[in-house]
Amino acid sequence: MRLAVLTGPDAGRTYPLFPGSHRIGSSESADIVLPDRAVSRQHLILEVSEDGVRAVDPGSRNGSYCEGMRFSELQVRPGAVLTLGTTELKLVPEGEKSRAMPLSSRHSFGGLVGNSRRMREVFTLLERLAAGESDVLIQGETGTGKELCAEAIHAHSPRSKGPFVIADLAGIAPSLLESELFGHVKGAFTGANSDRAGAFERAHGGTLFLDEVGELPLEVQPRLLRALERRQVKRVGANDYRTVNVRVVAATHQDLEGAVKAGRFRGDLFHRLAVLRVVLPPLREHLEDIPLLIDTVLSRLGRPPSALSDQTRALLAQYPWPGNVRELRNVVDRVVNLGEEALPDIPDVPAHGRPMASDDDENTVPMALDLPFKEAKERLIEGFERDYLRTLLERCEGNVSRASREAGIDRVYLRKLLRKHGLDTSSS
Ligand SMILES: Nc1ncnc2c1ncn2[C@@H]1O[C@H](COP(=O)(O)OP(=O)(O)OP(=O)(O)O)[C@@H](O)[C@H]1O
Ligand SMILES: [Mg+2]
Repeated sequence: MRLAVLTGPDAGRTYPLFPGSHRIGSSESADIVLPDRAVSRQHLILEVSEDGVRAVDPGSRNGSYCEGMRFSELQVRPGAVLTLGTTELKLVPEGEKSRAMPLSSRHSFGGLVGNSRRMREVFTLLERLAAGESDVLIQGETGTGKELCAEAIHAHSPRSKGPFVIADLAGIAPSLLESELFGHVKGAFTGANSDRAGAFERAHGGTLFLDEVGELPLEVQPRLLRALERRQVKRVGANDYRTVNVRVVAATHQDLEGAVKAGRFRGDLFHRLAVLRVVLPPLREHLEDIPLLIDTVLSRLGRPPSALSDQTRALLAQYPWPGNVRELRNVVDRVVNLGEEALPDIPDVPAHGRPMASDDDENTVPMALDLPFKEAKERLIEGFERDYLRTLLERCEGNVSRASREAGIDRVYLRKLLRKHGLDTSSS
């Protein structure tokens, strides 16, 4: 592990972090001296051990921050950026290039917005890779903007005039997956009444977005690998391969490396998909973007920034956002329509696994009528899905397999829906 100085008077310097204690401050006697007038003489202590790095602020005047949040004691994640005064320090894992990704001057890329360091690093990467032809893998928790990111890559690529086709692999019954992706010929199976092109063929000349690629069953993975390697697909029931000109952008909220280790995902397919990788940070790691995100959500709802009071904004800045930007959007939307009663409770404990929606949002359904049609419809459907799933789960006592039988929907798809609404209590 090394400590790289990203900004401030000493920008560009790096320090090795050996096990033990490192005192950081502006004092000449500190182990790591930062000649920054906004840094206290004894500003921060880093305790480096086998278990990782612990940062302790012994009471600096201006405080220590990690990704927008002030801390007095913190277990620091590798790659995290700490801010002391005007100096930003990055904890660089060994083996990683110490040069930080240059920061884009952008505050948005397509529909994604952000002015934090984390998001601007992502924008730099997106600017570079959008222009190319390589396939891309987007990773990130639910609601971090993976779909928005895929759309933006397409829109900024030389293929932007071509089609953008979405194949949601979690929403397709396993028996239909091959036909969805590769197409079928008439009579290939019961119900195949005519020839049909699959997603690959439909995306010819453009971009194919394979959403939730981690859900792809092992049996289908070799065929996807072949399609990626040869850029050729064979419709189910056909004998010949057709050549397609497609750029594939895949996304998953899953830990795919973990799935590879566990034997649920083929390593060769993973490496083929992850030629270029974009990791979208969870919102709790770029809380400083919340004001901009709130304004963006408000303007997308056709509301002025004044639609939310400073007090409400301050409350929203304290919430841990387990459902990331999607949850922020939903909360802002509810608060604007229903008032502050619709604010989520600020939990004392991290809110993972907690249902995202509170009980008072039943009212969102009738409110939707004054929104643009697409959003109103989306909201109505979301409200319906949530109510339906809650009742279903109650009836089935939380048993997902039973719930999937009772509702007549595929289990993988049900899980996806539960996750979307924060109702999935099992670990995934
Ligand atoms: N950085 C961002 N700037 C603006 N809006 C964002 C950003 N990130 C996410 N959103 C918004 O949050 C919502 C969820 O985004 P999106 O559907 O792309 O997430 P996702 O990562 O695909 O989630 P899931 O894994 O649940 O499918 C959308 O309304 C999107 O517009
Ligand atoms: Mg998505």
